[in-house]
Amino acid sequence: MMHGLHKFLLFHVLTCLRQNGLGSEIINGKKAKKSLLYMASVQVNRSHKCGGFLISEDFVVTAAHCDSPHPMSVVLGTNNLRKVVDDTMRYNVMKYKHPDYVDILSGNDIMLLKLSRKAHLGKKPIKPIKLPSHHMNLKGIKKCSVAGWGFTRTGGQIVDELREVNVSIIKLKVCKDKWLPGVKFPHNIICAGGYGTDKGFCQGDSGGPLVCNGIAVGVVSFNNGGNCDYPDVPNIYTDISKFIPWINVFLKKNNS
Ligand SMILES: *[C@@H]1O[C@H](CO)[C@@H](O)[C@H](O)[C@H]1NC(C)=O
Ligand SMILES: *[C@@H]1O[C@H](CO)[C@@H](O)[C@H](O)[C@H]1NC(C)=O
Repeated sequence: MMHGLHKFLLFHVLTCLRQNGLGSEIINGKKAKKSLLYMASVQVNRSHKCGGFLISEDFVVTAAHCDSPHPMSVVLGTNNLRKVVDDTMRYNVMKYKHPDYVDILSGNDIMLLKLSRKAHLGKKPIKPIKLPSHHMNLKGIKKCSVAGWGFTRTGGQIVDELREVNVSIIKLKVCKDKWLPGVKFPHNIICAGGYGTDKGFCQGDSGGPLVCNGIAVGVVSFNNGGNCDYPDVPNIYTDISKFIPWINVFLKKNNS
């Protein structure tokens, strides 16, 4: 039973390549404002695979399941994937996948990408987003948002223009009850959107940020078998606050 579900979910992980259409998009959102200056497109073979977000002048956060054996790069500084200027917007990366990541259902779905050069934070519209503290409490936070270039419907396509949607945090107990009973849920997750609303993420949105009060609190991880016909079950995000000590090791190493 568990094994079957596992395989099913993995097959529908929220990544998406333009060529083969296997990725995750925003459902019932709208075109993003110009101000999402931290958004990154994480690419494989120069095609969009996942979202990501800039957290310092040379680190981007994405999901661990976005890793690929083929050449990966990051695009910063445009909401429109048709307007990528390789010389200035594309960055080669070093990958630091969380050491305990195995698969999405085991959690730790987070990866750091170190840019080969510092992100140009001056002229181009690029700016890092704030991270939560290690013990940030989401209680009382109602409205958050998620953005991405993923599908706008189940089985759709990657879009050119970044889209964004408002979603609400769902209590962990409610979230677990809505997923199959008895399923071993990953630790360190946040549930938001996808349930009790027609809004959520979809294939191609993986790795993008869940933003609450201007802070990136979650990383898009997975939904239910690639079904983006919401309401369904809650969408699952990696809880960034739990990974702050791990992230800080990299950021500090980098600054010294
Ligand atoms: C990337 O390019 C390589 C070499 O051309 C190819 O073998 C591989 O299938 C491509 N991978 C993806 C995910 O597009
Ligand atoms: C999210 O909600 C805010 C405040 O209600 C609203 O101004 C904004 O347009 C909404 N964003 C999206 C993408 O729907």
